[in-house]
Amino acid sequence: EDESLMVKRPPVVCVMGHVDHGKTSLLDAIRDSNVTGREAGGITQHIGASVVEINGEKITFLDTPGHEAFTAMRMRGANSTDIAILVVAADDGVMPQTIEAINHAKAAGIEIIVAINKIDKPSANIERVKQELTEYELIPEDWGGSTIFVPVSAHTKEGIQELLEMILLTAEVMELKANPNRAARGLVIEAELDKGKGAVATVLVQKGTLHVGDAIAAGSAHGRVRAMMDDKGRRVKEAGPSQPVEILGLNDVPNAGEVFVGCASDKEARAFAETFISQNKVKLLEETKSKMSLDDLF
Ligand code: GTP
Ligand code: NA
Ligand code: MG
Repeated sequence: EDESLMVKRPPVVCVMGHVDHGKTSLLDAIRDSNVTGREAGGITQHIGASVVEINGEKITFLDTPGHEAFTAMRMRGANSTDIAILVVAADDGVMPQTIEAINHAKAAGIEIIVAINKIDKPSANIERVKQELTEYELIPEDWGGSTIFVPVSAHTKEGIQELLEMILLTAEVMELKANPNRAARGLVIEAELDKGKGAVATVLVQKGTLHVGDAIAAGSAHGRVRAMMDDKGRRVKEAGPSQPVEILGLNDVPNAGEVFVGCASDKEARAFAETFISQNKVKLLEETKSKMSLDDLF
C-alpha cells in the first residue's frame, strides 16, 4: 500500500492471562469502570473492546477471558492486536493459561508486555514471577533481556500509569499506520442475534473508514450499516483504523474472527458474502471484478 496515504493509528492491545489474574480489574482501573462487578461468577466470557485516551493518545483494548474453555477467543484476541499485555498475578505466578497466552502472542508475532498484578497482596512475589517467565524467553530488561515488566495493582492503581506509558512507548516504536481514506476492512470481534435489533456485530476497523450507510460483507453475512455505536454506547457516523464499533444492519450473524469488508455496492457486498459461503473464494472474487485485491481480503 502507498506509504504516503498512511497515517498514525492507535495501538490495539489485547489483555491476556490465566483466569482471575485480574485482566478485567486492570481494565476497570484504567477506564474507571466496573465491568468485573457485572460479570456472572466473576468470569469473563467474551471479548470486550474499549478505547482509552491517555495524554491525548488513544489505546484500543481487547479484554479476553482467562478461563481454559475460551482458547479460541484468546487466539482471536492475539490475532487482532499489535501488543499483548500478559497479566500474571504476583501471588499465583505462571499458570496453564499464562503459558497458552504466551504461545498465542508468539504465534501472532505481537509484542508482549508483562503486567505483574496484585502486588498489593502480602503473598505477592514479583521476583518469582520474573524467574518463572524466563523459561518462556520473557526476560526483564534489568536481567539483560528485552521484555518490559510492570508491577501493578488493579486495586491500589499502583503502576498503572507506568503500564500505559509503556504501551504508548512500545506503540511509538512500532510506527503503527493505516490508510483511513479507503474502503473499511477489519475483523468481527463478536456477534449475536438481538431480538429487536437483529444481527449485532462488534467489529474492529483495521484499515479505511466505516460509515453508516456503507454496504458491507462480514463472513457469510452482508448488508448496509444501519447504525453504529462506539465502545461507550454513543451513536457514531463513522469509525476509522483501530476503532471498535458495534454495527447493526447485517442480514445474518457472522462468526467472530471473520473478516469484514466495506463494499462499493449492495451487489458487491452480497457477492462477497456468497463467495465466502461457497468457499470458492478466489474464483468468485474474480467474477465480481472487485477493485479490491485478494491481499485486501484474505
Ligand atoms: P477472567 O476474565 O475470568 O479470566 O478473570 P480476570 O483475569 O479478568 O480477573 P478479574 O478482574 O475478574 O479479577 C479476579 C479477582 O482478582 C477479583 O476478585 C478481583 O477483585 C481480584 N483482583 C484483581 N486485581 C487485583 C489486584 O490488583 N489486587 C488484589 N488484591 N486483587 C485483585
Ligand atoms: Na475473573
Ligand atoms: Mg476478566
